Amino acid sequence: MVALLPIATAAAQSKDPQGDITRGKALAASCVACHAPGAPLPLTPSLDGQQEAFLLLQLILLREGLRDVPVMAGTLKGLKDQDLADLAAYFNAQPPRAPAVKRDEERRARGAALSRKLGCGSCHMSGYVGQRQVPRLTDQREDYLAASLKAYRDDKRSGIDTSMNAAMYKVSDADIDALAHYLATQP
Ligand code: HEC
Ligand code: HEC
Repeated sequence: MVALLPIATAAAQSKDPQGDITRGKALAASCVACHAPGAPLPLTPSLDGQQEAFLLLQLILLREGLRDVPVMAGTLKGLKDQDLADLAAYFNAQPPRAPAVKRDEERRARGAALSRKLGCGSCHMSGYVGQRQVPRLTDQREDYLAASLKAYRDDKRSGIDTSMNAAMYKVSDADIDALAHYLATQP
């Protein structure tokens, strides 16, 4: 299975994943029970407006079991690379939105300072909109952001490389909480 990773990487890195939004919309019918617009379910990420190359890469990792999400294993079974590209194109084309969060200025300020110190924007770009395989972090659920950051820190998740595991090395729970709050409350 690991042998498939170079193929996955090549597919996600090819300049423009050729996804078909209309086909993607039909396929997405089985996804929106959990990934509905506005991401209403706890710990379930918003996919709307997410970077297309990131979505495609994660879908390949999820389908191959290289990223282990048991609730999604059945959903992706039997889907071809083209289907995954179509799904990625569809979700990328949706307007980004996530549940509104009540701002806590103290946690925001702490999160902003940490993000500067840890260089989060250097990869996730200005405004944290992401680029290619680097995900968009704004308009994302706060609980999901915090859970992902803990998973990287605790080596329970890694992507095509270990850059996030390195970024989160020894970051405390309280700091993760502040980072997630700051990211989830971007203007
Ligand atoms: C039964 C609920 C459920 C269904 C159905 C489902 N998902 Fe998910 N999905 C989840 C959960 C929960 C996660 C977060 C897993 C984690 O914490 O790592 C997730 C994660 C993802 C991610 C990773 C996003 C990120 O920001 O890291 C992608 C991409 C994704 N799902 C796409 C899909 C697609 C496309 C479909 C339909 C083919 C689908 N999902 C169907 C529950 C579901
Ligand atoms: C060296 C580049 C780099 C730096 C620095 C970096 N990231 Fe990332 N980040 C990535 C990449 C690449 C991914 C996708 C990894 C994967 O495939 O799981 C990612 C994934 C994430 C995710 C998962 C989002 C999702 O939808 O699943 C979160 C949250 C995140 N980063 C937050 C941060 C924060 C907060 C910081 C600063 C502490 C940071 N990142 C620093 C490159 C970086």
